[in-house]
Amino acid sequence: MRIDILTIFPEMFQGPFSHSIIKRATEKKLAEIHLHDIRDYSTNKHKRIDDYPFGGGAGMVMMIEPIAKCIDALKSKRKYDEIIFLTPDGEKLTQNISNRLSTYKNIIMLCGHYKGVDERVREQYITMEISIGDYVISGGELAAAVLSDSIIRIIPGVIGDETSALSDSFQDGLLSPPVYTRPSSYKGLKVPDILLSGNDKKIDEWRHEQAIKRTKNRRPGLL
Ligand code: ADE
Repeated sequence: MRIDILTIFPEMFQGPFSHSIIKRATEKKLAEIHLHDIRDYSTNKHKRIDDYPFGGGAGMVMMIEPIAKCIDALKSKRKYDEIIFLTPDGEKLTQNISNRLSTYKNIIMLCGHYKGVDERVREQYITMEISIGDYVISGGELAAAVLSDSIIRIIPGVIGDETSALSDSFQDGLLSPPVYTRPSSYKGLKVPDILLSGNDKKIDEWRHEQAIKRTKNRRPGLL
């Protein structure tokens, strides 16, 4: 899978993309991430990419031209399955959306800033708008990093233990059950006996019960 990210802060992705699972996925060539600095597509001599809103009001608006030029250049090279704008007024991200996007070949993500982007970009280029939650962050970069991570980690072959991504919270509509590791007793705090019993069937049943109980208590809306 190839992800092209349009941003005015490409350096912001260095941290999240150079560690752990995303790093492994790119090293294994299961995922390719290409960062594009929107400023490189500005024809303005000061490399401006934003301007005052028509009609007045606070904040700046990202201009259509540099974004359109960058997307047109990418689209002339390959076909994209989805062109996603990260925005707090988009559709709220769910595991189902990430599952679907992880089956695609080429995706563009556009990171917004300031007061937003010229509406004509959304009308002419964007095929999907995603929010990572009902709160506002300073720009689309962290949201694009979250979305990329949630997509890439479930590409087959990225996580060594294939079943591990499938047993994540939300994959079966349930939260994950509690987990424990050594020591089996810490300052009198004991691990549930069933997990030490060696009875796989009983352990599976216990985990399923715990997942239901946890979901009922914490996120009843998921049931
Ligand atoms: N940009 C600012 N806030 C955002 C959010 N919650 N989701 C996606 N993009 C954003």
